[in-house]
Amino acid sequence: MANKVLSEPIAILGAGVAGLIDAYVLLQDGFTNVTVITRDRSVGGTWSRDRVYPGLCINNVHGEYRFSALPMAPPVDGEKTGGHITGMGMCEYMESFYEKFLKDMAVFKFKTEIRSVARNAAGVWNVSVEDLCSGKTETLEFSRIVLCTGGCSKPKVPQELSMDAARLANYPGIVIHSSQFRLRLDDILASVGPKEHDGDKSKGTVLVVGGGKSAMDISAKLANEGRRVVNVFDSPDRFIAAKSAIPEFIRKSRFLSVISPHRVLRTRLERFLHTTRIGSWVTHFIWHMLGETSLDAYDIPKSSPLRTPFSLFWGIRTNDEGRVHPTSYYSLANAGMIELMVPARAVGYADDGKSVWLSNGEKVAADVVILATGWQSSWTGVLDEKTAADIGLGRHAPLTPLKGVEDSWHYKTLANPPSIHPDNAAGKWVTSVYRGLVPAKNIMRRDFAIGGAMFASNMGYMCEVSAHWVSSYFQSDPMRLPSSPEEAIAEGERASVWMRHRYPNMISWINESYSTGLDFWTWPQAADELLEDMHVPSQRSGGNWLTWPFRVVDLSEIAMLGEERRTIRTVNLNSA
Ligand SMILES: Cc1cc2nc3c(=O)[nH]c(=O)nc-3n(C[C@H](O)[C@H](O)[C@H](O)COP(=O)(O)OP(=O)(O)OC[C@H]3O[C@@H](n4cnc5c(N)ncnc54)[C@H](O)[C@@H]3O)c2cc1C
Ligand SMILES: *[C@@H]1O[C@H](CO)[C@@H](O)[C@H](O)[C@H]1NC(C)=O
Ligand SMILES: *[C@@H]1O[C@H](CO)[C@@H](O)[C@H](O)[C@H]1NC(C)=O
Ligand SMILES: *[C@@H]1O[C@H](CO)[C@@H](O)[C@H](O)[C@H]1NC(C)=O
Repeated sequence: MANKVLSEPIAILGAGVAGLIDAYVLLQDGFTNVTVITRDRSVGGTWSRDRVYPGLCINNVHGEYRFSALPMAPPVDGEKTGGHITGMGMCEYMESFYEKFLKDMAVFKFKTEIRSVARNAAGVWNVSVEDLCSGKTETLEFSRIVLCTGGCSKPKVPQELSMDAARLANYPGIVIHSSQFRLRLDDILASVGPKEHDGDKSKGTVLVVGGGKSAMDISAKLANEGRRVVNVFDSPDRFIAAKSAIPEFIRKSRFLSVISPHRVLRTRLERFLHTTRIGSWVTHFIWHMLGETSLDAYDIPKSSPLRTPFSLFWGIRTNDEGRVHPTSYYSLANAGMIELMVPARAVGYADDGKSVWLSNGEKVAADVVILATGWQSSWTGVLDEKTAADIGLGRHAPLTPLKGVEDSWHYKTLANPPSIHPDNAAGKWVTSVYRGLVPAKNIMRRDFAIGGAMFASNMGYMCEVSAHWVSSYFQSDPMRLPSSPEEAIAEGERASVWMRHRYPNMISWINESYSTGLDFWTWPQAADELLEDMHVPSQRSGGNWLTWPFRVVDLSEIAMLGEERRTIRTVNLNSA
């Protein structure tokens, strides 16, 4: 008899990478009533057609950020960028994945804003949506929800720099958040002429606010278009770069994950590296060298603000710049093609009708202001406080005694951490999302899961394994799961304490929709845990005692996961 769960309606909220692979796995597993909802007019989320622009290159290299069912074409200009995938490449890949596997199998509701999600009296999920073309609202009902609204889909704009603030100050220029860059690019290029242009069109300045990847990408794009760019930030992202492409056995293997401590040290090598004095020295030395050689690869001067004091080890704001190339942010900044006004924050619009004030008392005249000021949790707009509290999503005071938990990680590598973020210090708040996928309090109901919220450097692999985990969880497949909400909450809260312990400077509950797990480098260990939960083999990249850290991790190793799970399910049914 077919599992009743399969025919019940299920909603996937969001059509980014996470939403697409979740839809795919559920359909492959036999779910027959799948609806995907997005405000965009096409698939891809961050990589949708309205967001990517020519020249945008992503952190990931070819072969890494994809799904097992569809190979990806090698990137255009791959030679120049060290194999880095382009934004356009990601967009085209997501669109063909949709065309090939999803378009005719699931219902896609585009240009549809999700206004609220709440469980109604009958225990069914009410999803209220607004058609962005007609303005009509309706309430749809679903038995299950997968929340995939993303970590970079709800812009964060400081009040004092907002479009409203600009209007109040009679600032006449263009003000946008980085997410609108693609859509407004032509306007920007039209309103600020190229620097060496001698015609009548006035030359001008674009002010880019922020020190993260979006700020850098946008600054580089505009500088490469010949525009005058001023970039202001108080601390920049860190980066990895090399004169020649980093070899696959380092870049795409488990190497970087092994030299990063995970919550559980599962191998002898990891225990050596993170719990012994020598191991810790070796680990920190490797990270230090990685950081220094990257800075040197770009000849970043010793006094440059682009040299931040922290080791790569402690951060998750690290971008992979790939192979050194003349059109990258760092080359352009070195050459003065991007002017840095740092460290400083933009604090508001001046009353001269043309400038922006900086925190150091200086003023910058600019015709365009681009706010690459980051993102906030996309969940707040979708789940009201009551629903979030009902299912246990969101920050809360600890429900389990957590005193002494940190002592269980006696890692030598975690001695001498950077100072703790003031909001973290008291340890007042925790979150409890089991495995980064299910709000722990709701775990027994099997009707709500999350996709894409784990912060990992290989989103393709992580999202695909997570999608299988979620499907198994919905179907009540044989799995390793906590036996009560209390157990799940305790586990979730310990994981939350770990995140703070590992990255003291990061506040996970500010950006909840992107930080249910901070397994940035350690995604292979996190993926292994999920595989073992499903009772399928882990550590799939293989190798012997010596070679395993250097074996390339490839998406093809999880291509048969659906089959493997089916076998386990059937054996279990037959023996029951
Ligand atoms: C400029 C930039 C560069 C990045 N570079 C990298 C990189 O190199 N490597 C990397 O791993 N990650 C990178 N990221 C992070 C990137 O966001 C993730 O890798 C990944 O694409 C997230 O996928 P997702 O499906 O979770 O969310 P998203 O791609 O953000 O998709 C969210 C979906 O939810 C929809 N949605 C959200 N809220 C609502 C609502 N209320 N109503 C209707 N629809 C809604 C959106 O329309 C969208 O369809 C980058 C992000 C940005 C912004
Ligand atoms: C999906 O479920 C909804 C709500 O129960 C129902 O109205 C619809 O007919 C179903 N569609 C399919 C294809 O089964
Ligand atoms: C759910 O939606 C129905 C309409 O489809 C409405 O009657 C009901 O009040 C809603 N319940 C909640 C809790 O929002
Ligand atoms: C949320 O996460 C994104 C992705 O890393 C980051 O760019 C953004 O700055 C974060 N926002 C906050 C408030 O930390």
